[in-house]
This record gives sequence, C-alpha cells and structure tokens, in this order.
Amino acid sequence: MNDMKEKILVTGGTGYIGSHTVVELQNAGYEVVIIDNLSNSSRKVLDGIKNITGIMPAFVEGDCTDLKTLSTLFENHKGIKGIINFAASKAVGESVEKPLLYYRNNLVTLINLLELMPQYDVKGIVFSSSCTVYGEPDVNPIDETAPIKVATSPYGNTKQICEEIITDFIASGANIKSILLRYFNPIGAHPSAEIGELPNGIPNNLVPYITQTAAGIRKELTVFGNDYNTPDGTCIRDFIDVVDLARAHVVAMKRMLDNSDSDALEVFNLGTGNGLSVLQLIEAFEKASGVKVPYRIGERRAGDIEQIWANPKKANEILGWKAVVPIEETMSNAWKWQCRCAGN
Ligand code: NAD
Ligand code: UFG
Repeated sequence: MNDMKEKILVTGGTGYIGSHTVVELQNAGYEVVIIDNLSNSSRKVLDGIKNITGIMPAFVEGDCTDLKTLSTLFENHKGIKGIINFAASKAVGESVEKPLLYYRNNLVTLINLLELMPQYDVKGIVFSSSCTVYGEPDVNPIDETAPIKVATSPYGNTKQICEEIITDFIASGANIKSILLRYFNPIGAHPSAEIGELPNGIPNNLVPYITQTAAGIRKELTVFGNDYNTPDGTCIRDFIDVVDLARAHVVAMKRMLDNSDSDALEVFNLGTGNGLSVLQLIEAFEKASGVKVPYRIGERRAGDIEQIWANPKKANEILGWKAVVPIEETMSNAWKWQCRCAGN
C-alpha cells in the first residue's frame, strides 16, 4: 500500500499491546525491531506475528534498563527513526508491594531511550500512558485537558512521572518529538487468534477473568461491588479493542515522522467514547460466545475508580483515528483466543 520502510524500535514488542502494534506496523510497511526481556511474554509471540503478517520481526532479547544493551541495539540496527515504548511493569497491586522495582523498570527504561535518541538521530517516541493519570474524573467523558490527579499506586505514578520526564526533556530543547497515548481499558485479541493477552497466574483484569471462567479454569467471577453510583451499581470503563488501539500507534508514528508541522509534544486519549459497566461487559461476552459466565457479587476492590470513559474527539480529529470494532466482536475474539490457549 505504501513504500515506507522506516525502521521502528518497539520496546516490549512481544507483550500484549506491543505484539498487536508490531502486526499493524508491519502491515503498514514499517520495518520493526523488537526489544523485550521476556519478563511478561514469550518468544512464541514472534511466530504469531509471523503467521499473521508473513514477516518475522528482528528480535533482541534484552533489558531496556541496561543502557549498554540499548546502545548496542542502535549500533546493530542502524537507521531507527522512531520508538514505541511499551516496555514496563504494569501490575497495580504488585507496584504497591515492590515500588522500587516499578520505579526502576519504568523510569530507567524511558530515560535510557531518551538519552540515546539524539545520539542515534531517532526522531520520535510514542509513550504508553494510561487513563489512570486522571484518577476519579470529575466529569465523564474525560478529555486531555482534565486535571492530573494524585496517583493512587506507584504504577500510576510511574506513568505520571514518565509523562513529565518527556515533557521536561522536550522543553529543554531536545530535538525529538513525542506522543503520549493515554489508553483506557484495552481488551480482546487479534481476530486470527494468533496473538492475545497472556496473563500470568490468576488474572487481575476483568476480561481474562471472564474468559477463563467461561472456559472452566476459574470457578466463578467475582464482580467487585454493585453499590456504586452507576445505573446498575457496577463500575464503568471504556473498553477498547486492542487492534483499534494498535492502529492508533501507527497513525501516531506516521504523524511524528512525516508531519513537520505537528507539535513536538502531543497527548491523546485512546478510547471508544462509550462507557460500559462490568455487568454489561459480561452480558456482551455471553452474547458473543453463547457461554454463560458464573458470577457472584463481592466486595468493592480497594482503589477502584467508579466510572471513567474517554472523550476521544482529539484523537478522532487530529490523528484521524477512531475505534471501530464492535464490542461483541472484541469479546468473540477474546473467546477465540482463550479457546486457542486452552487447546495448546
Ligand atoms: P505486557 O506486560 O503484556 O507488555 C510489556 C512487555 O514489556 C512485556 O513483554 C515485558 O516482557 C516487557 N518488558 C517489561 N520490562 C522490560 C524491560 N525492562 N526491558 C525489556 N522488556 C521489558 O503489557 P501491555 O498490556 O502490553 O502494556 C504495554 C504498555 O502499555 C505498558 O507500558 C503498560 O503500562 C501500558 N498500559 C497498559 C494498559 C493495559 O490495561 N494493558 C493500560 C494502560 C497502559
Ligand atoms: N473487575 C471485577 N472482577 C474481576 C476483575 C475486575 O469486577 O475479577 C472489575 C473491576 O472492579 C473494575 C473493572 O472490572 O471495576 C475493570 O477492572 P480491570 O482490572 O480490568 O481494569 P482497571 O480499570 O481496574 O485497570 C486497568 C489496568 C490498569 C490501568 C487502567 C487504566 O489494569 O493498569 O486499566 O488504563 F491503569
């Protein structure tokens, strides 16, 4: 479709969102180099990417907190024009128990990348941020001008600090561009069922818990609270299909590299613009899969936001990107992926 063959470094590229983004980048004609330390993913993901796109991306097994590993990567893969930085630790609960691990991994990774960018003439970096920076919103849907609230976990704080580090670095006159993408709740899997989310142990997140319960791996799902101030009493989120989310990274990269008029630093919400409650999501899953999910109502989970969904207008208008996958299709893909994993 196009003849761009610019080289992009994807850190954390064998992870959940990273792997889907590598697929979309390769489909769009970019050449991808992945670095991942496999702390939360597996080498097998590379085969999934190859099965979908026909291309095996270059892969470096290494840790982004090691500056030497990264500079060797830039030496061995000359001409990298852009970076998408997914590499991070992401479990909220674990971050409360092991804050230093989270600060070290998430901050040092970013600092190393920024430090090397000017040296290797890398033009732009896309950073994986999160709607967690908004805390409990005063109004929904929430747009990018909403205030950043005090973080409720070390993980959330790393996202805020990373956004500030990038902002300060660009303000200092560094000749780079950056786009901060604030994801809402990414869910689902590639429709081919070649790649998807691979939670370690008992899932913390809702969708893997739903699919594992439907598959009989977990006895029942606990819905954390139905006494919230929402129409059905359960929490509301903006669930966004992972392939839609992945596509946004390609558009963001293209904007940084090809549009000389775009600002050096931009921030976008990535969501659908629709809030769905926990019960509505279970219902969507049951409709899509034809499988009932046994669940019970339990206590509220400490630290949960009551309701948050995105105003994605800025991304819609400026990036020309929009989430398009219907929720039933997302849930059906999540189920296909679950069935495929169970069959492995
Ligand atoms: P993931 O754990 O599946 O992917 C992260 C990848 O980075 C993993 O493959 C892991 O092995 C790798 N990694 C971690 N530390 C590394 C290091 N020091 N060096 C090299 N590789 C390293 O997570 P994901 O869900 O794909 O999330 C990707 C990014 O998006 C993360 O930055 C996460 O914080 C952010 N994010 C995720 C969500 C979500 O709900 N999944 C929401 C908002 C933001
Ligand atoms: N939930 C249940 N039962 C479960 C799991 C979750 O009822 O077994 C509920 C939660 O209480 C919450 C909703 O489902 O109301 C969504 O929970 P998730 O854990 O799937 O997602 P969160 O919105 O809590 O958090 C996720 C990521 C964070 C990230 C945040 C915003 O886990 O890392 O989205 O991007 F910061």
